Amino acid sequence: MKLILGQTLSFLSDPFAGDPEASALWDRRSGVVVDDTTGTIVEIGPADTLKRLWSNAVVEDHGDALILPGFIDAHAHYPQTGIIASWGKRLIDWLNTYTFPEEARFGDAGYAAEVASRYFDLVLSNGTTTTVSFCTIHPESVGAYFAEAQKRGMRVFGGKTCMDRNAPDDLRDTAQSAYDDSKRLLARWHGQGRLSYVITPRFAPTSTPEQLEALGSLWAENPTCLMQTHLSEQTEEIEWVMGMFPEATDYTDIYDRFGLLREGALMGHAIHLSARERARLKEVGASLIHCPTSNTFIGSGLFDMAGLRAEGQKVGLATDTGGGSSFSMLRTMAATYEIGQLRGTPLHPAHLLWLATAGSAEAIGMGQTIGRLAPDYEADLVVLDLASTPGIEQRAGRAETIWEQVFPTIMMGDDRAVAATYVAGQRV
Ligand code: GUN
Ligand code: ZN
Repeated sequence: MKLILGQTLSFLSDPFAGDPEASALWDRRSGVVVDDTTGTIVEIGPADTLKRLWSNAVVEDHGDALILPGFIDAHAHYPQTGIIASWGKRLIDWLNTYTFPEEARFGDAGYAAEVASRYFDLVLSNGTTTTVSFCTIHPESVGAYFAEAQKRGMRVFGGKTCMDRNAPDDLRDTAQSAYDDSKRLLARWHGQGRLSYVITPRFAPTSTPEQLEALGSLWAENPTCLMQTHLSEQTEEIEWVMGMFPEATDYTDIYDRFGLLREGALMGHAIHLSARERARLKEVGASLIHCPTSNTFIGSGLFDMAGLRAEGQKVGLATDTGGGSSFSMLRTMAATYEIGQLRGTPLHPAHLLWLATAGSAEAIGMGQTIGRLAPDYEADLVVLDLASTPGIEQRAGRAETIWEQVFPTIMMGDDRAVAATYVAGQRV
């Protein structure tokens, strides 16, 4: 047994559903008891009580630092690690100029393994313990991702990106090979320990109707998998795709027609949606994944967080590495706040922290397993130093509430704020 001490914030309810400050329990001197053989949380409570009850436990005392569930990045492209922060393009040009040439290298299993290892080093140093990633069209890129996560004991999600048109020759599969390769990879990795396979059509413009149909069938045959794709990220993209699927009512309807819209669908971006699309997404229970640093970096638009949550949509939070400009979920929360401000709907720190933990967990169907500090949840944790730089420290020093104390770290913090990361109860 291990007893991890510090401040704790535990969400009891969805902060969008009522008073955000009443949605979480804060304890200034608290502890999390972790069973390091099962990797789960046994108990959370006052530090002194737990020290007495668990006197044989190994104590790791983080002082005033804040213990939270590890961050959950609900949409990323690990193969784009090497081209993050590439200058000056909008989506389609950015894909063709920077992304596709880099993704073409992932047929080389050695290169894929090297990048996967670097990627997980980066996300863990930023306090992210679960990632949901696109790989490339190459099965090697999927093997590299899952093998590396397995080595580290992480709960991760991912899948082979499928594209059979509007991509370079060396980055296209076919409807049949996408189905066959995805099926084989799914059988190999889905449910292996903490790994889950995600059926992954990149987005409608890079798939033929035949490929979308094949992947819809694969999903129907494997209903416990998630499905991830992109939806309505840029206006040019929407015009382009509607020209390819003239019979569809709108972009959402394209996925719907091929059996790719139901609960468990993770729709990246989802910025430019009509009222009909919003109603349909809500009706089926799909999840919308907000990628704020990407949406400002590539110039895509301002996601309607407040409106979408108010109407009861499931929303997760993500970096969208490397269209997103950061590996950090702290920076991602800050960008979420900034976009909320630009829309005239300021978000409370409770909203931001919930989105990066329990909210993303619910969006990926893991709300009973990760993303909360509660008994029986998996012990993936991040410990935040709330005074990690002089600028943050002088502001947090004036705080009168935990929310005021944590907000400077959300807005100005980076990997220096991450005092420790735990995966299944083990410090990494
Ligand atoms: N749409 C299709 N592929 C991508 C991608 O790799 N990144 C982003 N941001 N949008 C996409
Ligand atoms: Zn993406």
